[in-house]
Amino acid sequence: PETISIQELANRMAERAVDVIRLLMKQGQMVKITDVIDADTAQLLAEELGHTVRRVAESDVEEGLFDTADTDEELVSRPPVVTIMGHVDHGKTSLLDAIRKANVVSGEAGGITQHIGAYQVTSPLGGKITFIDTPGHAAFTAMRARGAKVTDIVVLVVAADDGVMPQTIEAINHARAAKVPLIVAINKVDKPDAKPERVRTELLQYEVQVESLGGDTLEVEVSAKAQTNLDKLLEAITLQAEVLDLKANPNRVAEGTVIEAKLDRGRGPVATVLVQRGTLHVGDIVVAGAEFGRVRALIDDKGANVTAAGPSFPVEVLGFNSTPEAGDRLAVVENEARAREITDYRQRQKREKAAARSATIRGSLEQMMS
Ligand code: GTP
Ligand code: MG
Repeated sequence: PETISIQELANRMAERAVDVIRLLMKQGQMVKITDVIDADTAQLLAEELGHTVRRVAESDVEEGLFDTADTDEELVSRPPVVTIMGHVDHGKTSLLDAIRKANVVSGEAGGITQHIGAYQVTSPLGGKITFIDTPGHAAFTAMRARGAKVTDIVVLVVAADDGVMPQTIEAINHARAAKVPLIVAINKVDKPDAKPERVRTELLQYEVQVESLGGDTLEVEVSAKAQTNLDKLLEAITLQAEVLDLKANPNRVAEGTVIEAKLDRGRGPVATVLVQRGTLHVGDIVVAGAEFGRVRALIDDKGANVTAAGPSFPVEVLGFNSTPEAGDRLAVVENEARAREITDYRQRQKREKAAARSATIRGSLEQMMS
């Protein structure tokens, strides 16, 4: 059932919470400011205090967001989005850096400095590949918990001198739960004590069977340090992507996911967004989680301003009124009034959840004390 806290109800009516409590007391109900009451009671109270009530269900507010299907004719191939996962120190960051450096054309603007936590490279087989640099499994899990499926392919990095370790197994489980195919990158093969064969057999225990052992999981021996076989890894990704037949409709309003967000001193809230459907344009009104904004600028992975970003394209979005959270889904809406309606609603929900949580904690503390 729908409920609302006394505090929230008072806020929405711009009344003092004590007045609401007093009214309830007159009716014989003893409540605290953090207590929640059902929507019917709240409506009666509000009307008694001279307010008009408009009850809005979630389904109304969120309607139309994220649910328009595309027809087959509208779908166009899009680049795969790849996340690199693996055990601590197995070389995830080194591999991401090596791929980016190897792909930078000399003299290219921006050089090798990374501007955002995601970038695109060109595969030796043609086509683009988008890499996102997730700070770790925790972020991946958090995004998944919010229903954001950002990754098409996981590259599982396993150091050949160390073998399968706890976070290797975790990554396998994450990928499996998200139904995302793995490509195994056996890293650090430049090391004298590298034992790539051992990695292959160890993986069998976790039901990852690489091609050279008769399975269907693509594998590549690489060295991030010596820059060995990076092209082969990109080829494997492109081949896997072809199997997945990844498509999206670029000709619709954009949807995407916030990969990271921060408050920048000079530029205000900055969100790195992976566009997943449609095309995001400068000037669009966007909502992400409980925040909204008008897109003031879009900046690509090389630090260049762009006017639009299509499917699988990572961009920095400037223009949010406040900083959204990593994992928030982004949608374009028709106007600012609609954006406000949605984000007001979500902010209320956030507050109510927080209030309910602290009420539960207080309740259990009281129980513990008595
Ligand atoms: P965390 O982010 O801490 O989980 O580590 P990571 O997986 O990102 O590993 P990182 O790239 O930081 O590399 C860890 C160490 O391994 C560093 O000292 C790298 O220089 C080294 N390293 C990474 N790749 C290779 C490689 O191919 N060969 C050798 N010899 N060393 C490597
Ligand atoms: Mg790292």
